[in-house]
Amino acid sequence: MRLKDKVAVVTGAASGMGKAIAELYATEGAKVVVSDLNIEGAQAVADGIKAAGGEAVAVKTNVADSGDINTMIDTAVNTYGTLDILVNNAGIMDNMAAIGEVEDERWDLIFDVNTKAVMRAIRKAIPIFLEKGNGVIVNTASTGGFSGAHAGAAYTASKHAVIGITKNTGFMYAQKGIRCNAIAPGATMTNISASIKNVDEFGASRTKVTQGVIPRVGQPEEIAQVALFLASDESSFVNGTVVSADGGWTAGF
Ligand SMILES: NC(=O)c1ccc[n+]([C@@H]2O[C@H](COP(=O)([O-])OP(=O)(O)OC[C@H]3O[C@@H](n4cnc5c(N)ncnc54)[C@H](O)[C@@H]3O)[C@@H](O)[C@H]2O)c1
Repeated sequence: MRLKDKVAVVTGAASGMGKAIAELYATEGAKVVVSDLNIEGAQAVADGIKAAGGEAVAVKTNVADSGDINTMIDTAVNTYGTLDILVNNAGIMDNMAAIGEVEDERWDLIFDVNTKAVMRAIRKAIPIFLEKGNGVIVNTASTGGFSGAHAGAAYTASKHAVIGITKNTGFMYAQKGIRCNAIAPGATMTNISASIKNVDEFGASRTKVTQGVIPRVGQPEEIAQVALFLASDESSFVNGTVVSADGGWTAGF
C-alpha cells in the first residue's frame, strides 16, 4: 500500500476526480476526510469506502467559507489525529465569458471556490505540516491554468493563480519537508459541466477552436492515479510543479 496510515483530506470528493482520488487513496491505505458541499454525495463516497474495508469520514464543506475550511482540517486532526495529505480539488467552471463580458459576482465566486479556498486550506494545513516536518499538497489546477484557450477569463485566471500558489508554496517550504504540486487535467468525464450556467456564446465559440483537437476525454480514475503518485513517497523529489494529464491535448501547442 502506497499511503498506509496516511491521513488525507480531499475537497470536492462527492463527484468526479475528487471521488476517484478519495477512493484510490483509501484503497492504498489512507484514512480519508471526504469533503464536499454536497454532503449526501460525500457521505455516499465515505460509506462506499468503509463498505470496501477502508477508513473515511464525510464532512460538509463549502470551500468558499473560511470557517468550513477550518472545520474540514480540524475534522482530520480530531478524527484521525493528524493530517498528511491535502488535496485541493473542488472547483467550478465559469460560463466561458471573455473578459469583456465578465460579471463581478461570477468572477468572485469562481475565485472564492477555485483559488481563495486553495490558499485558505493550505494556510490552515501548514502549521500541522511544519510541526511534523512532513506534508504533501496536491492541487487540481487545469490545462486552463497555463493555456488561455480552454475556458473563460475567470476560470482561466483562477487556475493560473492555483499554479502560482503551487509553485510558491513548493518553493517556500522546500526545506521543511513539505511538497506542493498541481495536476493539470485536460477534458475529463465528470459532472463539472453542471456548474456552467448561462454560457457566453462568443467565449464558448473561441474555446471550441482548441476543443476540436482534444485527442480523447479522460476518466477521473486516470487523474486519481496522478494524484496518488504526487501524494506518495514515489514523488519525493517532485515539488512546486505541474503534471499535465490531458492525453496529449496540450502537447501540440
Ligand atoms: N472535468 C474536467 O474536464 C476538468 C478539467 C480540468 C480541471 N478540472 C478541475 O477538476 C476539479 C474537480 O472537478 P470535476 O471535473 O471532478 O467536477 P465535478 O463537478 O464532478 O466535481 C466537483 C465537486 O466539487 C464540489 N464543489 C463545487 N463547489 C464546491 C464548494 N463551494 N465547496 C465544496 N465543494 C464544492 C461539487 O459538489 C462536486 O462534488 C475542479 O477543480 C475542476 O476545475 C476539471
